[in-house]
Order: sequence, then structure tokens, then C-alpha cells
Amino acid sequence: MSEGAVKKEEKPRKFQAIRGTRDLLPPETALWNRVEQAAHAVFGTFGFGEIRLPIFEPTELFAKSIGEETDVVSKEMYTFEAYTDKFVAVFSEMRRILVKEDIGSKNPILRNLQEEFKLESKRGTSLTLRPEATASVCRAYIEHNMQQLPQPVKLYYMGPMFRRERPQKGRYRQFYQIGAEVLGGSDAPAIDAEVIEMVMTFFDRLELQGVQLDINSIGDRNCRPKYVELLRAELLKVKDKLGPDSQRRIETNPLRVLDSKLESEQGIIATLPRIADHLCEDCASHYAAVKHQLEMRGVIYRENWRLVRGLDYYMRTTFEITAQGLGSQNAVCGGGRYDGLVELLGGPPTKGIGFAIGEDRLILSLQESGKGTVTTGRDVYIAWMGERAHATAIRAAKDLRKAGFSVELPPVEQKFGKALGQADKLGAKYALILGDNEVSEGLWTLKTLADGSQVRYTEPDLLEHLRKQRALSS
Ligand code: HAM
Repeated sequence: MSEGAVKKEEKPRKFQAIRGTRDLLPPETALWNRVEQAAHAVFGTFGFGEIRLPIFEPTELFAKSIGEETDVVSKEMYTFEAYTDKFVAVFSEMRRILVKEDIGSKNPILRNLQEEFKLESKRGTSLTLRPEATASVCRAYIEHNMQQLPQPVKLYYMGPMFRRERPQKGRYRQFYQIGAEVLGGSDAPAIDAEVIEMVMTFFDRLELQGVQLDINSIGDRNCRPKYVELLRAELLKVKDKLGPDSQRRIETNPLRVLDSKLESEQGIIATLPRIADHLCEDCASHYAAVKHQLEMRGVIYRENWRLVRGLDYYMRTTFEITAQGLGSQNAVCGGGRYDGLVELLGGPPTKGIGFAIGEDRLILSLQESGKGTVTTGRDVYIAWMGERAHATAIRAAKDLRKAGFSVELPPVEQKFGKALGQADKLGAKYALILGDNEVSEGLWTLKTLADGSQVRYTEPDLLEHLRKQRALSS
């Protein structure tokens, strides 16, 4: 085979992002940054501090917190086996001995190593890419003894999460959440209400459209089990009329049947017993107080008795927020109270409540409603010609950038016509024209691209003019 033929066959593979993952590109990333900056600002005003968490954790952490039977844990996690550090050390020592040293396989050192190797290879560590971050925040709370800090501890986070779901608009396998958790202290209803108020304030700041807050209480260890049994009994009576998913859930998690979107099941669900009628006294008064606290804060809500959430750790308050323009995946935020989760993970008895916003969906909704526009064009495009002008252009770019302007400095000389065309394409506001004349006269030409007007300025006047214009437009 000739060399050319080989090359043809070996045409390099074109890689593409894995299904369910995607690249976020400029100018859209400017909107992501704006949203994240607003989260830092708003959450900061409520006294929350940022926590940055690892992307992977022991599988068991998620299985224990979210629940083995949930969709997330039973079918959506990205889990992989990792060897223990000891396994790697033993393995390399064995190899070193076998390769470098001439000792028989019956040698006791080697035999010992082989035994350890067997033991460690069984041990292994199962790791999972985080499908959510509440479990990790609780793990960190325990690990860093945060119960010794003034309570409650208020933390927020943002970053990628991973779930193997069927990708569609607003649903990805790598998606992004912005979340917050309040851990420790009391379970005062004002805490539930303030957490909800915070997320609503954030959405308000972003001018998110069509925001609808749904709330519910799903009871606690006292009252929920009895309600779940009642629900199960009622569901068994109508089992034949339900779809396969709901039929399965009668056994695994009857509450999730209430979540069903299946058209044929809606009539049946409407007749099922409602948890609000079966809350114990404590849960009922907590729920009433949360509603009162929301009203005191002017937060508009809708009660939704079917809002049960898909993760096992919740108790009492649950809430979900939907927004405009998202189609079937319209939940832009979900959250609730999870007292007892820290304890379940080996920590002290601790109250907890929080939420997570789906950032991808938040961005989509902002874009669909026209609230997602960001200005990303350059402020100044420097059109220069000639060696002396090049040196001046470099200096001008440095000064303008120092003053906070976004500057495009072409790396090679261009004819002015071409340079102005390029400035237009990049959405620049101004073209700074620097030719031999401008440099020798010390008067620089500034062209406003929107109306084509041109004015000549001395260097300090030019900077002053741009500063004034910026102040006027901000
Ligand atoms: P979650 O309801 O599973 O709750 O997720 C919260 C939000 O993340 C959803 O409302 C949605 O906007 C977004 N989301 C979830 N899955 C996807 C996906 N595959 N693609 C795009 N967006 C998605 C939690 O994760 C809890 N940890 C929330 C929480 C915090 N509860 C208490 N504290």
C-alpha cells in the first residue's frame, strides 16, 4: 500500500461532544456569567457563603441520601470503580519484584504481597459523578465539624451535575445547578420562607418571566408512613387502570404516582387521598406557619398537594418553581426540607433545607422571553496602518484596557476599509483610526460605527470622551 493510501484510510476521527453534554459558547456564556454574578450578589445579601465541592464522591453517599429506589440512584448515575491507593501500591511493588529481582514465586515477600493484592482488589472504591449536591454539602458539614460554627450554616454552590436521563430540550446528562442549603439551628418556618424568598428575589433580579411557585408539605416520620400506606391501599384498588410505571411505584414509592404526567391517570389521581388531610399536628402547624411567613414576605405561592419531589431525603416543606418557555421540562428550581439527612450520614441531628436551580433551564427561559440579551461586542476596534502607528496602537490598547474598555487590536496591518468592515462584524462601538497623520499630529480619529460620525481627539480627550459615553449608557 502506498503512503498516500495509508493516509487516506487513517482520516482522523472527528470527535463530538458526548450525547447529553454540550459546549457553552460565547456570546451565550456572557449570559451564564451574568446569571452567576447575580446569584453571588443576591445570595450574599442573605448571608450565604460559597462552597466548592468535588465532582465525584463515594457512590454510597448518594445511594444513602437520595435513596436506592429513586430514578436518580437506580438508573441515572455515572458510576465507576476506582482502585484503592493501597491496591495500586501493592500492584506496583509486586511488578517491581517480579521484573527486577530474581526471586521465586514461593518467596514469602511475594506471597504476602499476593495475599494483600487479592484483598485490596475486592475492596475497590465505587465512585459516582455527583447527580446533585445536597448530599455533598451534608458530607462537608459533617467532615468540617460545621455544627461548631454559629448556626445555621448557610451555603450555596454552582456547577455541573450528571444524570443519565434521556436528553431533550432542557434535559441534559451534564447540566448545571445553582443551589443553596441552610444547615443546623432550628426548623423555624421563617427559615423555609426566607430560603424561598431568596430564590424568588434572584429570579426577580433576572426578570425571569412566568414564574410560578408551588409548595406542599409531605409530612415527617410520624405521619408520612401512615399516609403512604393509605395511598398504597387506594392505589392497589385501581392498579389495573394505571400505567406500568405507576404500577411498579405502588410497591417502590407510591408518592411518586402523584407526580405522574400520564393523561390517562389524571382522573384517578384526582380522587386519591391528599397528604394535607393526613399531616400530624406538628407538621400541619409548621406548614401553616410557612405559608404565613411567605405571605409576610409578599411571596406568591400556589399549594400543590401532588408535589412530592423525586428524592427520598425530603420531609415537610417541598417546593418547585416553573417558568415560561420550557415545554415539558419546566421545573426551573426544586427544593425542600431534609431534617435528619445529616444524621443519616453519620453526623449530629441537624435541620436542613435548600433548593437547586437548573441553570440550563433558567438560561433557556430567559432567552425565550427576550430577557437573555447581553452586550458582548468590543468597545473599540483599533484600525492602524504603518510601523509608527502600530507602536501607538499597542500603547493605546494598553491604556484603554486599563480603563476597562474591551479592545480589539488587529495583529497585522489592514487597509482601513477592511479594518472598519471587521470592526462592524465584531459589533464594535467605535473604531479608533491610527495612521501616520494621526500619530504625527497627536490627534486620533474616533469613528462611531452606529452613525458613521468621526471626531479627532488628543489622547487624554479621547479617553475622557469614552469614559463619559460609558457613564451615560450605563
Ligand atoms: P432536583 O429537583 O433533582 O433537586 O433538581 C433541581 C433542578 O435541577 C430541577 O428543577 C431542574 O431545573 C434541574 N435539573 C435536574 N435534572 C436536570 C437535567 N437532567 N437537565 C437539566 N436540568 C436538570 C435536587 O437536585 C436537589 N438537590 C435540590 C435541593 C437542594 N433540595 C434541597 N436542597
